[in-house]
Amino acid sequence: MRVLGIETSCDETAVAVYDGEQGLLSHVLHSQIALHAPYGGVVPELASRDHIQKTLPLVEAALNAADLSLHQIEGIAYTAGPGLIGALMVGASLGRSLGWALGVPTIGVHHMEAHLLAPLLETNPPEFPFMGLLVSGGHTLLVEVSALGAYEILGETLDDAVGEAFDKTAKVMGLGYPGGAALAALALKGQKDKFHFPRPMVDRPGLDFSFSGLKTHVRNVLNASPGDPQTLADIAFAFEEAIVETLLIKSKRALTERGLQRLVVAGGVGANKKLRSRIQEMMHERGGQAFFPRPEFCTDNAAQTAFAGYHRLMAGQRDGLEIQVHSRWPMDTLKK
Ligand code: KG4
Ligand code: ZN
Repeated sequence: MRVLGIETSCDETAVAVYDGEQGLLSHVLHSQIALHAPYGGVVPELASRDHIQKTLPLVEAALNAADLSLHQIEGIAYTAGPGLIGALMVGASLGRSLGWALGVPTIGVHHMEAHLLAPLLETNPPEFPFMGLLVSGGHTLLVEVSALGAYEILGETLDDAVGEAFDKTAKVMGLGYPGGAALAALALKGQKDKFHFPRPMVDRPGLDFSFSGLKTHVRNVLNASPGDPQTLADIAFAFEEAIVETLLIKSKRALTERGLQRLVVAGGVGANKKLRSRIQEMMHERGGQAFFPRPEFCTDNAAQTAFAGYHRLMAGQRDGLEIQVHSRWPMDTLKK
């Protein structure tokens, strides 16, 4: 089956074509970062309006890149949540209507399931069962994946998501929005052991996270510092180190608890180089394996939407004619 995927959950408009036999045929994306940057965060109404303008041209671009016509599409997958309601409605309305007009089945995809399955698009995909560490702008989850669709959430953040912590801290440091990648780049110039930030909640049992205190910690350190470029880089280094180590400690704990040897890291923060190399090291030491999507498929994209939708459509799942999107959608309520 050849599936067209549409992603509009937040501030990226993306379209892709995935074919069950030939793999990923095309993927195109338009980022709204420049549109929202002056406001220091995503403005939901502007996001929806921009998705409306970009979706159809991107559908055409994805079809052209795959050398296909619309009538060669056999199924449609669109992100149905979680995300910004207005933004989701754009992709869902287009996807559902295209499916109706073409007479092909459609499926609303869970955005976090799509992130989690992104590493399965790579050449050396993980086998089930595996532990998933989902680290994005909206979510931080440790989830045991025993099969496609069988998700048990073991831990999540009690406040800010990791990406959110990166973005808010970057903002406090004057690095713009979204600042995750900029903060990581600045950390490269930082020196080790100049600052030591807390590793939140690691001394407590359990697998939940809390990242909002780190941002406050940075603000306090920043206020007490001279604020010169080297000190800023040293603070960025200590912040990234604290995040990476916290994620490592909790991932190890989850793997041990469940007796698993495979760890899948996905979501926007999965593009972070330090996190990737430290996780690789950790899994190597344990005699296990780490899996990541390529960096461009860590952040939002439609390749993962088309791929997740393909699997659900192949399992016989279909949407009705009504269009439904969800701003919140617990992942463990998904159909197996
Ligand atoms: O998965 P994603 O594109 O969107 C959501 O579903 O939330 O994740 C975006 C998040 C943002 O918070 C961004 O700052 C963060 O991922 N991010 C990074 C890096 N690249 C993106 N955080 C740390 N280091 C990076 N290299
Ligand atoms: Zn995402």
